[in-house]
Amino acid sequence: MTSRRPAGQPARQRTGSPAPQRSWPVPAALVALSAIPLTAGTLRLVQLAGGPEVIPADGRYATFPLPLVLHIVGAAVYALVGAVQLVPRLQRGHRTWHRRAGRVLTVAGLLVAGSALWMTLLYAPKPGTGELLYVLRLVFGSAMAGCLVLGFTAIRRRDVPAHRAWMIRAYAIGLAAGTQAFTDGIGGAVFGTGELRSDLAKGAGWVLNLAVAEWVIRRSAPGSRLGVRAGDRAGRGVTPAPAPS
Ligand code: HEM
Repeated sequence: MTSRRPAGQPARQRTGSPAPQRSWPVPAALVALSAIPLTAGTLRLVQLAGGPEVIPADGRYATFPLPLVLHIVGAAVYALVGAVQLVPRLQRGHRTWHRRAGRVLTVAGLLVAGSALWMTLLYAPKPGTGELLYVLRLVFGSAMAGCLVLGFTAIRRRDVPAHRAWMIRAYAIGLAAGTQAFTDGIGGAVFGTGELRSDLAKGAGWVLNLAVAEWVIRRSAPGSRLGVRAGDRAGRGVTPAPAPS
């Protein structure tokens, strides 16, 4: 006869201890999501450095590419370090690493948000994009910087749940660059093309990512009924915070 395990209860090994959790699927999915804009960014940097034109040249960047270069380099660090940083097991077991990587991540994130705002204000709009995207970029670029500052100040006062929540929101806003590849494609296929439709599809990328972020934050909140395993809680902000250095 097979015994049924109640929902939410951890699987047990023969020794009686909880089965080890697989920690790679989430970072792997996040890296996969960021792979599209990061590949485009790498090709753009190669092109700006005088290499082959694998993607069409964009004259807007030719005269002053600095903000774009900072944006792409910052985004690569932010996307990749951030994916690893969100693994609960690493948060629990490697606190010094988590702290150091967190500082790198905060600087990289501010670079991404700052350069995004800079480029929005500096460069002429890309053909096919409209005023709505212009406003959305200003709003979400500022929001991303704000979330990073709030996340940093939260951990300085040892408020781990608030730190975690703001950092997840900031990461979700940044990673919308990957989600937008899908919302753009699906939006174009379903609703057709056009300036406003394309801007709305990009906006949907941010809204979707923030909705997932809020779900993740609430799912692991202390006292949540949505089922966090006891062993996970230590890495999700329920245990006392390590002293900030
Ligand atoms: C980790 C996250 C991000 C990645 C990987 C990323 C990637 C890129 C890449 C590769 C480009 C160059 C596109 C090209 O060559 O035409 C770019 C441009 C740009 N990005 Fe991002 N980005 C990220 C986050 C953001 C965020 C959060 C915003 C705004 C809130 C933003 C705003 C912009 C703007 C304004 C441009 C200039 C291009 C244009 O005017 O169309 N990015 N980004």
